[in-house]
Amino acid sequence: MSEISYNWLKELPKIELHLHIEGTLEPELLFKLAKRNSAQLPFNSIDEVKKAYQFSNLQDFLDIYYQGAEVLLLKQDFYDLTWAYLLMCKEQNVIHVEPFFDPQTHTSRGVPFETVVNGISEALVDAKEKLGITSRLIMCFLRHLSEESAIETLKSSKQFSDVIYGVGLDSAEMGNPPEKFVNVFNQAKDMGYKLVAHAGEEGPASYIWSSLDVLNVQRIDHGIRAIDDPDLMLRLIETQMPLTICPLSNVKLRVFDNMASHTILDMLDLGVCVTVNSDDPSYFGGYMTENFLALYDSLGLTKDQATRLVKNSIDASFAKESRKKELYNLLQTYISD
Ligand code: ADE
Ligand code: ZN
Repeated sequence: MSEISYNWLKELPKIELHLHIEGTLEPELLFKLAKRNSAQLPFNSIDEVKKAYQFSNLQDFLDIYYQGAEVLLLKQDFYDLTWAYLLMCKEQNVIHVEPFFDPQTHTSRGVPFETVVNGISEALVDAKEKLGITSRLIMCFLRHLSEESAIETLKSSKQFSDVIYGVGLDSAEMGNPPEKFVNVFNQAKDMGYKLVAHAGEEGPASYIWSSLDVLNVQRIDHGIRAIDDPDLMLRLIETQMPLTICPLSNVKLRVFDNMASHTILDMLDLGVCVTVNSDDPSYFGGYMTENFLALYDSLGLTKDQATRLVKNSIDASFAKESRKKELYNLLQTYISD
């Protein structure tokens, strides 16, 4: 096989399973929405914003990320944010997406739950019609807040159960273990939602175990600390439990010192169902193609590995079986061309 190029990776059909829609807010749109909504920003220029995107850890990033989200007020804002991400997906041949959104980030500022969901979901509907991109929307609970607040949020979601497909858990991991959310995850399961949770990003491998055994999740978001625990690695391999890994995010948030020390391809070659995702692309230096490219540049990603990563994403997705077949066919056609 010939060498991987930026274009080959850009055209490779891709699936995104770990993407915070609020994390796609590009500085240009941030300024546009701030102006439109008369919101104050602590920055004077796009350059200043970009310079501020240097993080020492997850909390450092979260502080700026929640601040940025304050410009989102109206349904149109959520639509525009989501649509801009979907246009980027089209450009990079990302053909199925399962975005997260954080309702509490907005409802805590007085933005109605339905404003957020309707804006995002209308863009997702348009993407299917106009761009051929399919999706499953996942609502995340903020783990630095209480379980009661998560339960309130779950209740608000009830009337949108036709557009919200699953629930997840994100925000500050350390000190907020999965066990804190056992009741809300049990209730979400009873309501028929798919379950996922961030675990083992900054937190220990034990948080991955408890996400699996206490929260009963169907995917682990990040999960990179699994490599510290051989028994957990065996479990992940035996059950083919998917990990949604975000290489550029992990380097930006100093989970790895550099891309050359990232363990995603070691895990792939050991048989773990790892996938590539962009997390918060506006803040971390790139979307799906750039994440794949980083693996090529620093770890020598091969075409075979890239193909296996996409196959894992198809298997791990919540798309219906007929759509999974289509996704497989699109991938197969591309790699055999
Ligand atoms: N929210 C947005 N990005 C996140 C991340 N990488 N980890 C936890 N919570 C998040
Ligand atoms: Zn994330």
